[in-house]
Amino acid sequence: MKALVLAGGTGSRLRPITHTSAKQLVPVANKPVLFYGLEAIASAGIEEVALVVGDTAPEIRAAVGDGSRFGLRATYVPQERPLGLAHAVLVARDFLGDDDFVMYLGDNFVVGGIDEFVASHRDARTEKRTGTGTGARTDAQIMLTRVKNPSAFGVAELGPDGRVRRLDEKPAHPRSDLALVGVYLFGPAVHEAVAAIRPSYRGELEITDAIQWLIDHGHDVRSQEITGYWKDTGNVEDLLEVNRTILESVTAAVKGEVDEASEVVGAVRIAPGARVRCSRVVGPAVIGAGTEISDSYVGPFTSVAEDCLVDHSELEYSVVLAGARIEGTRRVQASLIGRAARVAPAAGVSRTHRLVLGDHSVVELTP
Ligand code: DAU
Repeated sequence: MKALVLAGGTGSRLRPITHTSAKQLVPVANKPVLFYGLEAIASAGIEEVALVVGDTAPEIRAAVGDGSRFGLRATYVPQERPLGLAHAVLVARDFLGDDDFVMYLGDNFVVGGIDEFVASHRDARTEKRTGTGTGARTDAQIMLTRVKNPSAFGVAELGPDGRVRRLDEKPAHPRSDLALVGVYLFGPAVHEAVAAIRPSYRGELEITDAIQWLIDHGHDVRSQEITGYWKDTGNVEDLLEVNRTILESVTAAVKGEVDEASEVVGAVRIAPGARVRCSRVVGPAVIGAGTEISDSYVGPFTSVAEDCLVDHSELEYSVVLAGARIEGTRRVQASLIGRAARVAPAAGVSRTHRLVLGDHSVVELTP
């Protein structure tokens, strides 16, 4: 079994963070979301992976390299433009050959990984080959999860027998609340499907249409429902929520310097080279290498990346990306602070806000 990881596309929904960086590299608990996917793939026993890459290819390559640190052999498949998930399968045809493969969308996060999902597909393939068991054929397997906003996803309608009857991509009037999770398992029949379908109303070759083609042509498409799923839908709330979920399983590890005047409480991971002075850090929280926390309070569910400064400030339930500086600020909460951003009081002028904001920035001020 191989894996195809989609790491191309544009990141319009996580702007302004993705103006300058691939959306798959946005860190959660100080690790790019893409890495959780690669770890899940390796944990499921898969070794060969191709990453489909677009404009941000150099950044993705620099982060993932040859994949060896994940226990994977990684290759890269350029996709000229983001022409759809099924198009990504088309361009990866040589890599995939006739092998079964997991297709994993690089901006998705599945709590608990994909071990069971992959194992169940392997079992079904064995049944098919040996004629044992009940599962005669399985050409595609999808994961579904109940969501509040199905219109933002591919949506599945199940028949009375529980089998997938119909899939719609981002329907205005969804037939169910069962969204397609961005992890799929395919056998070689999918290649015929992606070659047969035509672009959708949004000009993309949709993987939902390819799976629908498989259903309509008598192929076996199975589904399983999962809980504990996260996907960027552009709102910062989701990102903070997955950050919270991951931090819940962090264990305490203080590798940086913490001075006598500081207090570190609960599950806090402080990377080597980080310094905490005259501060209180309450976990779960992670502090990246080279970051300095001084005269501050860092509260639960906060991730501060590398080389940041938090000085005379209070920070809680937030994600701070590399190189950011937060100085002399009252409570910063439920916030996403971008790379090398600076939050500080206006010099010399009272009751005045001075802002230099990038495109699509959001600032919510307390009067
Ligand atoms: O996340 C689950 C959803 O993912 C499913 O419910 C939908 O059925 C499926 O179509 C997909 O919807 P999105 O519109 O959210 O996909 P997005 O454009 O965000 O792309 C998903 C990932 O694939 C992302 O990491 C970018 C990458 N990608 C996307 C396209 C369109 C590519 O590498 N190449 C592409 O051509």
